[in-house]
Amino acid sequence: MDNEAGAPILTIDGPSGSGKGTISRLVAGRLGWHYLDSGALYRAVAVAAGWATLDLSDQTALVRCTHATEVAFRDTPEGEPRVLVNGVDATDELRTETAGAAASAIAAIPEVRSALTERQRAFCQPPGLVADGRDMGTVIFPGAAFKVFLTASAEERAQRRYKQLKDKGVSVTIGGLLQEIVARDARDANRAVAPLRPAPDAVLIDTTGLAVEAVVARVLELVSIPRS
Ligand code: DC
Repeated sequence: MDNEAGAPILTIDGPSGSGKGTISRLVAGRLGWHYLDSGALYRAVAVAAGWATLDLSDQTALVRCTHATEVAFRDTPEGEPRVLVNGVDATDELRTETAGAAASAIAAIPEVRSALTERQRAFCQPPGLVADGRDMGTVIFPGAAFKVFLTASAEERAQRRYKQLKDKGVSVTIGGLLQEIVARDARDANRAVAPLRPAPDAVLIDTTGLAVEAVVARVLELVSIPRS
């Protein structure tokens, strides 16, 4: 077992748009395990900081905001996941490009990351946890039994995001999204603390051109292999 709570952990890391969220949620559902969307925690802090009109360069205020921000994950009776930030349903605001870019900037502050570490580890409860993020397999759950790193070409990730946003009626251009994705990848991969990179023992899966079900099957197969 991977932690004191006696639960196995599957970490799924990767850049934005690699399919982590979709795959992690589906795999957690199939396994009946808990699910941690760690990006939502960083996004929640970014949204709370926006509500408080904090300056993204004011690190002290951002660290204080991280400690003060309450985040709760709830499913609607229809099973739709919602995220409450300080008691307010902020699910839609969390998913915006603005929140993602602010989260990426805030996530580069070491004290913000350490303030969220224990909160993330607390998600590990029986019967198991699927943890989705950038540093799940490297920093938060380095002892996890199962580690996956998902990638996809930047062009395909921009296409996926374009489709998602278009379906929601948001007007964006592929070129603009591609630029944002490349900038966010660079920021997430080049920061000094917990940069985006695969754990040495992670299994790499390139999802470019793969259907969601094929990726889910591949990940489930990995978890089904008995650990030595
Ligand atoms: O996975 P996401 O797009 O919701 O994450 C938003 C930002 O939060 C991402 O650009 C970097 C940051 N993040 C992080 O630094 N570490 C994590 N474990 C998850 C997200």
